[in-house]
Amino acid sequence: MKALRHSLFEAIGDLETRAVTIRHELHSHPELSGKEEKTKYFLKGILEAEGIDVFGFEGHHGLVAQITVDPAKPYVALRADMDALPIEERNALPYASREKGVMHACGHDAHTAIVLGTALALNRMRDKLSGNVRFIFQPAEEVMEGGSSQMIEDGCLDNVSAIFGLHAYPYLPTGKIGYKKGVMLASADTFEIEIFGRSSHAARPHEGVDAILVTSMAVNSLNHIVSRQIDPLHPAVISLGTIEGGRAPNVICDHVRLRGTVRTVNHDVRRRIPEMMEISVKGICQSMHADYRFRYDFGTPEVRNDDAMVDFLVREASSLLGSENCIDLVDPVMGGEDFGRYLEKVPGAFFRLGTCNEIKGTCVAQHNSRFNVDDDALAVGMKVLGLLALGSM
Ligand code: NI
Repeated sequence: MKALRHSLFEAIGDLETRAVTIRHELHSHPELSGKEEKTKYFLKGILEAEGIDVFGFEGHHGLVAQITVDPAKPYVALRADMDALPIEERNALPYASREKGVMHACGHDAHTAIVLGTALALNRMRDKLSGNVRFIFQPAEEVMEGGSSQMIEDGCLDNVSAIFGLHAYPYLPTGKIGYKKGVMLASADTFEIEIFGRSSHAARPHEGVDAILVTSMAVNSLNHIVSRQIDPLHPAVISLGTIEGGRAPNVICDHVRLRGTVRTVNHDVRRRIPEMMEISVKGICQSMHADYRFRYDFGTPEVRNDDAMVDFLVREASSLLGSENCIDLVDPVMGGEDFGRYLEKVPGAFFRLGTCNEIKGTCVAQHNSRFNVDDDALAVGMKVLGLLALGSM
């Protein structure tokens, strides 16, 4: 194992600058969710030039690369997401986005460069490998439908025994990683509620049914579900993001549309929330003579890490970074990540890669127009993923 580690770190040392160049290239040409075509061809070219097997798909821009040393053995999978966000970059960087209104503001350029760099490093030592590795480059992580379901449908987890993924994390300095056993990120669902009233002259409200008043009562009541119907020990969020309705100041509004998101970390709570919401809306509409339409879409599941895989991650990462630099994050966060879908099928672990460097200004929160990743974190990510791959063989 010592010799293997040495070969891995040597290969990564040689490839570190290349990985940074690859990230900068991706950063200057970000592509939105579902539109990652140029990114796909860029990665495909690099992987093929190194003699790594690459597979594309019909209907989306995902890519799977793999190193197979023994076809009888399963694969360990490393996953990256490739999509960017509809944000105008405000960083003055030589590699800042050249696409108007599109930016890698979540660090997926770094994830892609790290997994690609790890692929190149492991491929250079392929005659020393005792097992197989698959590299999953996934499209469309940032949208509610999530690209991971397409990748899974297309067989990216076939014959996979374990999966690992990471996410850039500006709340930890470069050189540290964050881990968590059990649920790390919440499930993310969406809903849409329409309230139907009856219009009338605003001066004669008794002749109509005021959809705005009914909505205001429904909004209030929806906000009481978490505080009064759910065990306070089970975190949940019901947030309304949009409200649309009404046409004129002197007309009683007959139609309002609300949209929002629900986040939970507990299966039972997740299952019960849609019913609680509908009962609440229905009761108010009945009492006010209004009608409603309720639509709830289950999105990505929570990210639930496998405890044994987290132990393995912490062991490997500590051997590289020191145990003081492997931070137990303790609490889940209510953000979502479609990596959860892979973890429903295969044991694995998702972890945070520290990317904060105050001097370089890389401690800005994700989805901000000044977000950036410390390039020095790429080698850390490559080494940790490389060790996880070697240790899983
Ligand atoms: Ni992200």
